[in-house]
Amino acid sequence: MVCGDMAEERIYREVQDYYSKELKKTEDLKTNACLTVTKPLPAFVRDALQCVHEEVSAKYYGCGLVVPECLEDCWILDLGSGSGRDCYMLSQLVGENGHITGVDMTEGQVEVAKKHINYHMNKFGYKKPNVNFIHGYMEKLDEAGLKVESYDLVISNCVINLSPDKRAVLHEAYQMLKTGGEMYFSDVYASCDLPEDIRKHRVLWGECLAGALWWKDLYKIAKEVGFQTPRLVTASRITLANKELESVVGNCQFVSATFRLFKIPKDSTAQQCKVIYKGGITGHEKELEFDVNYKFKQGEVVDVDEETANILQNSRFSTKFLIHPIEKTQPTLEGCHLGKQEQKLGDPFRFVEQMETKVTTKTPSGCCGSKGCC
Ligand SMILES: C[S@@+](CC[C@H](N)C(=O)[O-])C[C@H]1O[C@@H](n2cnc3c(N)ncnc32)[C@H](O)[C@@H]1O
Repeated sequence: MVCGDMAEERIYREVQDYYSKELKKTEDLKTNACLTVTKPLPAFVRDALQCVHEEVSAKYYGCGLVVPECLEDCWILDLGSGSGRDCYMLSQLVGENGHITGVDMTEGQVEVAKKHINYHMNKFGYKKPNVNFIHGYMEKLDEAGLKVESYDLVISNCVINLSPDKRAVLHEAYQMLKTGGEMYFSDVYASCDLPEDIRKHRVLWGECLAGALWWKDLYKIAKEVGFQTPRLVTASRITLANKELESVVGNCQFVSATFRLFKIPKDSTAQQCKVIYKGGITGHEKELEFDVNYKFKQGEVVDVDEETANILQNSRFSTKFLIHPIEKTQPTLEGCHLGKQEQKLGDPFRFVEQMETKVTTKTPSGCCGSKGCC
């Protein structure tokens, strides 16, 4: 057990029971929280998923798509890897020289994942496995035998909400990342700080709802543990689709959202830059949708703020961009969001509302139009 606190111990035990005894397959879920799909899957991801063993796919309980760009040769850690669906999908995308480690605290899930290692390695034509699965707690990754600063990416799909100690999870993820690394994860977020009666609901917790972070707390915790400002990639509304549980949550709303958090050298400084995406990232050859605020078309000049410039310069994306600092005297695109943090979209609920009403922050002309920076 990772923590002495009785309430936390109960949560770990109940979640383990939920994912070993109560749920046997995806159809056993009682709400649609773990089933949200935001966009059609890109063909290369669909192909990779089709190669995953059916027993592994049948026990998939994720709420988003954790496929960051630029994966070749990357070392990836999956927190709460479950039966291993995302690990086996990513095993193909990183290639034989990359590696995926899955960590999960539910023994039954880890067993299913391990059982199919040879099947997948044969299918992918790999000489030696590029995946391994560890039974352990994501709040104590050192106890699980993992080495600090050894991963390019940490991913997680619908898991952090289940932890009674989210700060410990983000702190551990930060420790495990190499400098320049990224945490890219999908999870469930609440529109408010959830009241005690919801938090104590066993089924709602198991269904990834009762433990959901108020989205604003993610920004707070991420900053505290050392990450740059979270970047919202996408979000979609969770409707529950269960009348009884809907009446328990009342007016609290939930979204499934994907964020990316970067670990950038502490002493790095950056200034506003003009950047050009060189293209060539698998599956994103012509256009790279970095987050909801920045879309980079191959060959197009885009003005980016200090933090984005810092991330592009100090991460695995550095070789994919031409980056030129903007001289102080040089004019920037007038009226743009450049450097104005408050205008950046970071609230997943606002993003979902914009999608629903088909009103986006982008306009056909003006600063965020065809020549724009947004
Ligand atoms: C909703 S499922 C998602 C599983 C997997 N990511 C997927 O997409 O199928 C949550 C998983 O997280 C695991 N989990 C929950 N809390 C954990 C913790 N503190 N440490 C490690 N694994 C945990 C559970 O055992 C379960 O397998």
